[in-house]
Amino acid sequence: MPTIIDGKKTSQDIKNEIAARVAEIKTEEGKVPHLAAILVGNDGASQTYVGAKVKACHEIGFESTLVRMEDTVSEEELLAKVEEINENPDIDGLIVQLPLPKHISVEKVTDKIKPEKDVDGFTPANVGRMALNWPAYVAATPYGIVELLKRYQIETSGKHCVVIGRSHIVGSPMSILMARNGYPGNATVTLTHSRTQNLKEIAQTADILIVALGKPEFVTADMVKPGAVVIDVGIHRVEDSSKKSGFRLIGDVKFDEVAEKASAITPVPGGVGPMTIASLLYNTLLAAERKVYG
Ligand code: GUN
Repeated sequence: MPTIIDGKKTSQDIKNEIAARVAEIKTEEGKVPHLAAILVGNDGASQTYVGAKVKACHEIGFESTLVRMEDTVSEEELLAKVEEINENPDIDGLIVQLPLPKHISVEKVTDKIKPEKDVDGFTPANVGRMALNWPAYVAATPYGIVELLKRYQIETSGKHCVVIGRSHIVGSPMSILMARNGYPGNATVTLTHSRTQNLKEIAQTADILIVALGKPEFVTADMVKPGAVVIDVGIHRVEDSSKKSGFRLIGDVKFDEVAEKASAITPVPGGVGPMTIASLLYNTLLAAERKVYG
C-alpha cells in the first residue's frame, strides 16, 4: 500500500501551529491577524469556500471581515472597496474571491490589491517574487502541495516532476516551485497542458506527478510509473445514490487503481483541498508579522 498523504491531518497540524503563534502575538501586541474577504454575487461554490475561510479564521483566533457585494456592483465600486481595505491599517490580508462577474476585469482588481496584503499571492508582484525565489506570498494551493511534500519528506532533488495543467493558480506556479533551487525543488520539471502531445508517455516517466487539469479521473494506472508520488488537485462532485448527500467527491486521478502503483498519493477528499485554507491562514500570519515585505 502506498503512503496516503493526509492533507486533513497536516492542515490541522498547521492550524494548531498558527493558533499557538496567534496566542503569543495577542499577548505581545494585543492584536490578532485580520483577514478580509470580498465576495461578489451569490455563486454557491464561492459562498462555500469563503464561508470555510471565515470559519477557519475564527477557529484559530484570527479576526475576519467578510464584505459582500451584489453581482451588479460596478468595477469602480469594487476597486474603491479594495483601495479602502488597502489603506485600513487594522487589516493584514485581503482576498477577492474568484470568479468575478464578466463585467469586472480580474486583472484590474488583482492589480489593485496592495502586494503587502495579497495573501492569495495573485498579484504580479507576488508571482514575480515567487518566480525569483524571493520572500513572497505563494498561492494557497501550490503552497499547500509544497508543504505536504516537505512534511512527508518526499525527495524532489533530481526527480522528474510532471505537472498536468497550466493554470495561473496551480499548474504554472507549481512548475516554478518544483524547479527552483531549494527544497522542495531542484526537480526536472515538465509542464503539460491541453496541447501536449504524448501526454501519457510523458506522465509515465514522472517520479512526481501533479495533476491539476480539472477532469474527473483523467489519470489512470497505465499513465503512472510504479513508485511514483501522485498529487491530485482535482475535486468533482458525482452523483451517488448510496450516499446520504446524494453525491461523492472524486479527483483528477482514478484513486483506487493508481494507489496500487504509487509509492505515495493524496486522496480526494482530504488531500490537497484542506491544505489550501491552511496556506491562506499561514500567509495571513506572515502578513501580520510583516515577514515578507519587512
Ligand atoms: N477561487 C478559486 N480558488 C481561489 C483562491 O484560492 N482564492 C480566491 N480568491 N478565489 C479563488
